Amino acid sequence: MLLQHTNTQVRFDQQNENAEAYVLPFIEKTHAINSATRVLEVGCGEGGVLLPFLKRDCYCLGVDLAEDRVRIANDILKEYVDKGQASFIFKNIYDQDFVDQYANDFDIIILKDVIEHVPEQQKFIPHLSRFLRPGGQIFFGFPPWYMPFGGHQQVCSGKLASKLPYYHILPRGLYIRLLRMMGEDEVKIRDLAEIWDTSITIGQFERYVKEAGLKIVNKQHYLINPIYKYKFGLKPRKQAAFVGYIPYLRNFVTTCVYYTVGL
Ligand SMILES: C[S@@+](CC[C@H](N)C(=O)[O-])C[C@H]1O[C@@H](n2cnc3c(N)ncnc32)[C@H](O)[C@@H]1O
Repeated sequence: MLLQHTNTQVRFDQQNENAEAYVLPFIEKTHAINSATRVLEVGCGEGGVLLPFLKRDCYCLGVDLAEDRVRIANDILKEYVDKGQASFIFKNIYDQDFVDQYANDFDIIILKDVIEHVPEQQKFIPHLSRFLRPGGQIFFGFPPWYMPFGGHQQVCSGKLASKLPYYHILPRGLYIRLLRMMGEDEVKIRDLAEIWDTSITIGQFERYVKEAGLKIVNKQHYLINPIYKYKFGLKPRKQAAFVGYIPYLRNFVTTCVYYTVGL
């Protein structure tokens, strides 16, 4: 178990640093970021991803289904909340009052390490586009399923269970049995089984985007995910571009993908 799994300030700082160095610059390649920009982050957690956007004077709304994380975001970013530049809410974006209030309202929507936790992504991705202003873009950053730690098994408490790559791609029942044999508790096993259920590959993601009537504006695949600096002490490395065109193989050797998509 890593420090960021138990210490919320550490997690916030890592979200902030990573967004400042990688997420914001990637989005800015295809969309202006300034005081007129309204940003929605779905699955904002502690809100650290939004801090670089707040520093650029954007209005930011963070939503999450984890109430405790939303409370932490409100605490840490109180200065911005108090002056009306940020809001963090515990909310399901399918709720009708949320749709009524925020339809066609955002220039940028961010889902960073979130889409792989969401069920029925082929329904969720088109729903997200309802919140875009004309010319708006959605950013997705996620670890594709077949990569070495695509099951998020690094969150396991056992040394072997957290360090062993690729075993998450076993059939579901076998994977769960193995986690149990390695001593993981039932809550952790339930969480990991949920990720098994919602897993998403590069090909599936691109297909859902297309089916939603959205276009890929920009993409970047990583051999070494920028957040592996915090997880494994590794230096981020971009994936060789040609690997991204090899449909099956790319999923096994790409630890993270960034996309911006738009209408
Ligand atoms: C791995 S965390 C990522 C947090 C943050 N975006 C980051 O980059 O560190 C995933 C977050 O997504 C939230 N989440 C999952 N499904 C969601 C949904 N349908 N709507 C809103 N939040 C969701 C979870 O509660 C969790 O806080």
